[in-house]
Amino acid sequence: MKIIIINGPNLNLLGKRETNIYGDLSFQDFFDQLTTKHPQLKLEHYQSNVEGELIDKIQEVGFSYDGIIMNAAAYTHTSIGIADAVAGITTPVIEVHISNTYARESFRQKSFLAPNAKGVITGFGLQSYELALLSFIK
Ligand code: DQA
Repeated sequence: MKIIIINGPNLNLLGKRETNIYGDLSFQDFFDQLTTKHPQLKLEHYQSNVEGELIDKIQEVGFSYDGIIMNAAAYTHTSIGIADAVAGITTPVIEVHISNTYARESFRQKSFLAPNAKGVITGFGLQSYELALLSFIK
């Protein structure tokens, strides 16, 4: 199975950024643990701070991969372009968030992606990504 985790803006700062909300583990360290735990999967990771680059990646993988785990970060709440990209591909997308976006500011409670996602996992820390992964393989 080929699965990609796509991370949006500022998620390259995980481990350093607002550690009270997002924890103190870098995404690379978490990803290394995840790939070690699931050696049977072809797991990839892509991160960009640029909306168009995220759209390019969704289009590139969205007709051939078995799953996309997407944390569009702030673009979740603003980007019609990313939402349209998710709507336009055939690979199922699971939307994930580290924090519980429903327990935060009201602007984080709107997701443009969610209507076209297979499901949404929010609020379980970095474990949100693994829960999404398990849903693809179970
Ligand atoms: C986030 C939640 C978003 O509201 C925020 O803009 C992020 C991270 C999360 O994983 O909790 O950057 O997607």
